[in-house]
Amino acid sequence: MKPVPPNQQQALVERLMQACGGGYSPETRRKHFITGPQWAASYQGQALFHAPTRTAIGFEDVIREFAKIGIGYWCTHDTDVIPTEQLGKDGQHQIVARIQKSLAEHGLKCSMVTTETFYHEVFVAGPAAEAPEVRCYAAFRVRNTVDIGHELGAEYAVYWPGSLGYYTQGAIDETESLRWYADALNAACERDIEIAKKKNRPTLKHCLEAKPFEPQGEILLPTSDAMLGFIFSGLVKRPEMVGLNPEYLHELMWGAAVRAALARALVCGKLFHFDINDGYRLKHDVDIAIGLVNPLDWLNVLVLLRSHGYNGPFNLDYKPPRTTSNAGVWAVSVPTMVDRFITLWEMAGEVISDPIITEATEALKAGGTGADTKNAESIVKANKELLSLHELIAHRIFQILIGAHRGRTYSL
Ligand code: GLC
Ligand code: MN
Ligand code: MN
Repeated sequence: MKPVPPNQQQALVERLMQACGGGYSPETRRKHFITGPQWAASYQGQALFHAPTRTAIGFEDVIREFAKIGIGYWCTHDTDVIPTEQLGKDGQHQIVARIQKSLAEHGLKCSMVTTETFYHEVFVAGPAAEAPEVRCYAAFRVRNTVDIGHELGAEYAVYWPGSLGYYTQGAIDETESLRWYADALNAACERDIEIAKKKNRPTLKHCLEAKPFEPQGEILLPTSDAMLGFIFSGLVKRPEMVGLNPEYLHELMWGAAVRAALARALVCGKLFHFDINDGYRLKHDVDIAIGLVNPLDWLNVLVLLRSHGYNGPFNLDYKPPRTTSNAGVWAVSVPTMVDRFITLWEMAGEVISDPIITEATEALKAGGTGADTKNAESIVKANKELLSLHELIAHRIFQILIGAHRGRTYSL
């Protein structure tokens, strides 16, 4: 192939995207509760060892492009859109008014707001630092985010306490830090109750998001399970208002079976919000787009969520790769992420209604005949042959993933 001149490269990307078979229509995409973060779309590719590869873009661009693609909801950190020094001041009100205008113009809703308590130097010792003035400031920040959330009509607030931890042990007493962190959350919930009453709106759903490592060396609430314990610890004053925002990759990072982690949240009634992405087990937070690493696992995750009627947001918390250009974010990255999610969601429906899987599952639950339930040997004999269905079900799910159930055939 001949070298491709720079001015023909975008056209090539677009032609090959078409050749991939196109995508879902914006109307179809909008039927799902898919939420698009400001920070994901505007991520410039920077990291500790990486310079940015894309130019900056603001919320007006992101909201407009989400609308074109068919993403119905937008979400943001406070400081993704409002400079730190403007928080709680006039500048904030002007920006919030611009956001409202932009959302209305493009028919989007704000689903969620979150507080950045990890980036600015003020949080260098964490959001629940020893110095009371830092904690006072953290409480101001989360309360202010609640205000913004109500102004923008959000239903959810997310908390990722990324810097709640340390690099070196000994300086802080973990029990004290956890109490202090709960104080901030309690302040947010109290503020929420107050504003919700004033505005005659429901209170927000407050969602804790865990990540096992990064950016701190050691994290005080590293997993969704640790957070469930925290919610019910007695430190959180309004446990009924607080639940989880698990992130797919954050669970994999500590080696969890993501489906099992979600099941533990579901049985506690705490699966409020879900950050969707992909990546590798026991490695850092690469935030790859859904389905590019673990499509089979993802299909299984969605089968669990569909069969339990999960109806919260699916939040596209991924980072477009650094190799993708500004144009590529909109032409390739965001729409293909959304479409792989929808395809996997549809496949999950096929798994749930598949006659082979249904019959196999029912047979496993019916068990065998002739067992003496006080005799291990006799129980083993009663259902031994049935248990091959475990592997058969896994094979069938794979077939659905690759389309073999619709007649994809093997070449000779
Ligand atoms: C950061 C984290 C992301 C989290 C978000 C919400 O961007 O990387 O995982 O969901 O903050 O606060
Ligand atoms: Mn996340
Ligand atoms: Mn992540």
